[in-house]
Amino acid sequence: MYSKAAEIIRGAEVFVITAGAGMGVDSGLPDFRGDHGFWQAYPPYARLGLSFVDCANPVHFQHDPSFGWGFYGHRTNLYRDTVPHEGFHIIKKWIERNNADYFVVTSNVDGQFQKAGYDDSRIVEVHGSIHWLQCQTPCSSEIWFNDEVIPVDEISMRARHTPRCGECGEVCRPNILMFGDWSWLPDRTRIQEHRYDRFLETHADRRIAVIEMGAGSAIPTIRATTERIGWNLPHATAIRINPREPDIKAPHISMPCGALEGLQLIDAAMKV
Ligand SMILES: NC(=O)c1ccc[n+]([C@@H]2O[C@H](COP(=O)([O-])OP(=O)(O)OC[C@H]3O[C@@H](n4cnc5c(N)ncnc54)[C@H](O)[C@@H]3O)[C@@H](O)[C@H]2O)c1
Ligand SMILES: [Zn+2]
Repeated sequence: MYSKAAEIIRGAEVFVITAGAGMGVDSGLPDFRGDHGFWQAYPPYARLGLSFVDCANPVHFQHDPSFGWGFYGHRTNLYRDTVPHEGFHIIKKWIERNNADYFVVTSNVDGQFQKAGYDDSRIVEVHGSIHWLQCQTPCSSEIWFNDEVIPVDEISMRARHTPRCGECGEVCRPNILMFGDWSWLPDRTRIQEHRYDRFLETHADRRIAVIEMGAGSAIPTIRATTERIGWNLPHATAIRINPREPDIKAPHISMPCGALEGLQLIDAAMKV
């Protein structure tokens, strides 16, 4: 399995990297698998009986901003402090060695690919990014970079500072697609998607390695992206790395392990 994956990587002219929350696990970040996984990461919400879906809702910025910003401020700080694991660099090394083109498609909002040195113009963040802000109303279609300092009380999970829109003075919020969200401004993601579509059109006939890591089946956007390329493009092969739900039909490759371990094993197999 690893040697087959290594052969695909060795021959790849183009890389598409698709990543869900599990990609961050080896950097020490939580995924939110089910209520249990979410509560393990955030015990205060277990005490309040609130799920990820309850917390990731734009209504809090309107009705209880310090609560809304408690969750997102905590995550902003966590993602700012996180160092991307070695796996990010292993893939970059493969891309550079093959002199290949690449694109990243991720449902993560944590900015870890940019932090690991991937080109911002070759990334689609399908659910937006925590590092960008927008007005909660919104009073305009403006988004702006999140350079706010947002201390959070980790017992109450309330923010001690709630960032505001410079234009109208209302509370602002991350430019992330939340649940039941009618106010998300999608322009940044749409521009990224447009670049990605052009990239795929240009490279449709080339040897493409799709490397999927940590993408769950609960919200299957990323898995669907992988499969669309894998099944529709003639010379594309997908490698799905996931410790719990790695299934994908041959000729695509299923690797039942963590992202970092899987990438290291493929890298070792390439040297053989
Ligand atoms: N860091 C972030 O930006 C972040 C964090 C949590 C959730 N989210 C987003 O919220 C939504 C739901 O989140 P979710 O946690 O249910 O995501 P998810 O449904 O993508 O599930 C996580 C997946 O990662 C796998 N996984 C666990 N450990 C792994 C490892 N070490 N290596 C590789 N894979 C591993 C799990 O088996 C699961 O399939 C998604 O859109 C997700 O991107 C983003
Ligand atoms: Zn405003």
